[in-house]
Amino acid sequence: MMPDNNRKRVGTPDSANADSNKLTPVKKCAPGNYNAKGKTKNCVSKEKIKQSAKNKAESSKHNLPVEKNKKKKLKKKPKIKRSPFSPPPLSPSPNTPNTSKAPRPDEAEKEKLRFDAEKKLLSGAKILVKNIEVTVVKLLGQGGFGLVYLVQDSKENRYAMKTEYFCESIPSRMKMEVKAYDKIANFRKAHPKSGMRLLGFYGSGAIGNLKFFLMSLVGPSVDSLIAKYEISFATALRLCIEMFVGIVDLHECGFVHRDIKPENYAIGLNADRRRVYLVDLGMVVRVLEESDPMPSSSKYDFIGTPLYAPRTSHLGNVQTRKDDLESWIYSCADLFSPNKLPWAHECDRQKVGDLKEQFFKNPSADILSQMPAQFEDIIRNVNMIGMTQKPDYKAIRDLLESAATMDEIDFDEPFEWELGEQAKRKDDSGEKKKRKKNRSENTQVTVDK
Ligand SMILES: Nc1ncnc2c1ncn2[C@@H]1O[C@H](COP(=O)(O)OP(=O)(O)O)[C@@H](O)[C@H]1O
Ligand SMILES: [Mg+2]
Repeated sequence: MMPDNNRKRVGTPDSANADSNKLTPVKKCAPGNYNAKGKTKNCVSKEKIKQSAKNKAESSKHNLPVEKNKKKKLKKKPKIKRSPFSPPPLSPSPNTPNTSKAPRPDEAEKEKLRFDAEKKLLSGAKILVKNIEVTVVKLLGQGGFGLVYLVQDSKENRYAMKTEYFCESIPSRMKMEVKAYDKIANFRKAHPKSGMRLLGFYGSGAIGNLKFFLMSLVGPSVDSLIAKYEISFATALRLCIEMFVGIVDLHECGFVHRDIKPENYAIGLNADRRRVYLVDLGMVVRVLEESDPMPSSSKYDFIGTPLYAPRTSHLGNVQTRKDDLESWIYSCADLFSPNKLPWAHECDRQKVGDLKEQFFKNPSADILSQMPAQFEDIIRNVNMIGMTQKPDYKAIRDLLESAATMDEIDFDEPFEWELGEQAKRKDDSGEKKKRKKNRSENTQVTVDK
């Protein structure tokens, strides 16, 4: 079993561009003790002490009522600091004259938000994103970093909205994600056939410290589906192909994902239900081209999800295109034989890295026997890709296509989750059973260096 702290987020990267991302240390900011500039309120400068002593001396000289003045100051009504989401003040009694001004637009927006005790948005909450006003329908998913809600506009067009609470001491992951989606949206405008397995982006915004953005709505994650359904060899291969195409699409748009795993892929809806989308661009970095200078080591000790992270991440090096493909191979192996990766139950990250090295030198016959034979060549191919080299996507795609042809895969066949109850995962006693999630399947970012 992995230790509990393997589940915890240690920090977040702070820039979408290159691996110059660094973790900003968490400031110890006791609530109320810091002003906006980060200086402690209770600290009085030497000048102030001198000035107050001088004032005292001056007042005693002229017999001025220092204490009285002070008292007057104390009597001043204290300014009430409210968090942007605390309830609005009680309405004034009918006798008090109403001197309040009309709420500022931002204040008016805050009042349309409704939260539960855990600061999750309640259904019915309204948010204006760019120029689309959406209403929260329900919570869809929760990763290690953000909450994703189903929302709809006044015409009942449905979207997914990801939210994050911004705190000065923790660099925002959403900032990177929004930047990436924005760049991808522009790239797709110029190249309309690109990025088909990536989500559409409809704008971002913030109300107080709640940050959010709107994207296309997709269905459940691959991870949640394989946890519930016993999938066939054909489904596993189809998912592998779809997941591969998602990576090619992202690389083409100029980004490396750095957290490829079944949880970060989701099935499309309706006409797109046989398509798989790559989601969660919170850890992306710019693709390193062959002409780019060779980077030194990464600022991180480790970034990614232990079960699926590439060896590069275990070595604390900068991740490039080949690394997404390595994580994809681990994800594929996990689809064909769940929980059988040799490091699935190993908690020492160094050992996990060594076992992954071993896997590439001499892939376990047990694992390979469950996968299409072409994976032997795919594993060899991916292992040979240089750090900044552009992978030969076509060669891998051809191998996958040949596997699909050999196994007579019908791409129009419904997936198990389209068949309903009968395809649900069962244990030995025939009871319907969910695949247990391993703790090492959670995203981590560490700076132990
Ligand atoms: N566009 C979307 N439509 C529907 N569900 C989504 C969408 N984006 C994410 N989700 C669901 O929310 C979960 C968490 O989202 P993700 O972006 O991975 O957050 P985190 O950065 O916290 O890991 C995903 O695993 C997926 O199930
Ligand atoms: Mg995620």
